[in-house]
Amino acid sequence: MNIKVFDMISISCNAWMVGRRRHAEHGEWSVLMYLITGATGLIGRALVDTLVSAGAEITAVTRHPDGAALPPGVKVVMPEALESVMPEVTAVFVHPRATKDGVDALLASAGRHDVARVVVMSAINADDDPSWQPSRFNGDRNTEVERAVAECGLPWVSVRPCSFAMNTLTMWSGQVARGDTIYAPFGAFAEAVLHERDVAEVIARALADDSLLGRRIPLTGPAALRFDEMVQTIGDTIGRPLRWQEIPAEVAAKAMTQRGLGEQFVNALMDRYAREIDQPVFVSDEVAQILGRPARSFADWVAEHVQAWPQRIALAGTASA
Ligand SMILES: NC(=O)c1ccc[n+]([C@@H]2O[C@H](COP(=O)([O-])OP(=O)(O)OC[C@H]3O[C@@H](n4cnc5c(N)ncnc54)[C@H](OP(=O)(O)O)[C@@H]3O)[C@@H](O)[C@H]2O)c1
Repeated sequence: MNIKVFDMISISCNAWMVGRRRHAEHGEWSVLMYLITGATGLIGRALVDTLVSAGAEITAVTRHPDGAALPPGVKVVMPEALESVMPEVTAVFVHPRATKDGVDALLASAGRHDVARVVVMSAINADDDPSWQPSRFNGDRNTEVERAVAECGLPWVSVRPCSFAMNTLTMWSGQVARGDTIYAPFGAFAEAVLHERDVAEVIARALADDSLLGRRIPLTGPAALRFDEMVQTIGDTIGRPLRWQEIPAEVAAKAMTQRGLGEQFVNALMDRYAREIDQPVFVSDEVAQILGRPARSFADWVAEHVQAWPQRIALAGTASA
């Protein structure tokens, strides 16, 4: 077996992400290389940025290299080219959406080349009954991809995030454009939503050394907030008097399906809110434990994304302020 030997000699202040690797067969030394699938997505881009800032070498996988717009110095390959780059790879990030149809081939290739670690992103609800995982109705297969990684025989870590803060833009930015009132159900539903860069930084940590091996790590933000409190935070930060107006779940579900969301997905989401609204909210301290600093708050996230929230659109016949 071609055993890769790792030497985490510091070559920057982020020594845990960079270093050198020696092929025992050849006695050659080379820089650590991270293979990142899903590199053009929400978490993938944040992960690439984290690793690039640390000076790490990256091979990014995308189906569309020409439009990928990844940072200079990142090697970009298509999924078909994985086998040819794997000999240089130290650790692999398995993105569940990008790899769900090709995870076995990816892991087999990683196994042939004795990759040191495989880190998969899954989800905090990965052990729930499939009907309780709304994203499954949009095609995601977090449970299965995580299981494939955990059973592949290579050293592995699973990072299991709760809802990303970015979801709030998807949920409410349309209404923020139309006015100051958010009409939605389950205002008392609370969750400790996560800053996407915290997810990326934990994944980077898991890729870099053996300290998290064999763990399924639940990640949340630092504190639970109700939906109506999140809307208040958004309003306070973007300087608008946003107000929550509770409406029945059936009315909201109908509007969501009319906007093109799948009916099964919408129903699973509403069922989740109804099921969990009176439950205690799980808050994990894993981000702080792993990164050695507090998880970023929702207020931090909104402050960083002020420009992403739309201005109020002036409607015809409406006097402008
Ligand atoms: N949103 C949440 O709150 C949340 C919370 C926990 C877990 N999750 C899970 O996280 C995953 C989504 O992460 P994300 O937001 O980073 O995803 P994303 O932004 O959609 O990015 C995924 C990337 O994967 C590639 N991709 C997408 N669909 C693909 C397909 N069918 N085949 C091959 N490649 C594909 C695309 O890259 P190219 O087009 O460049 O190839 C895309 O940029 C899902 O599995 C979701 O269930 C989400």
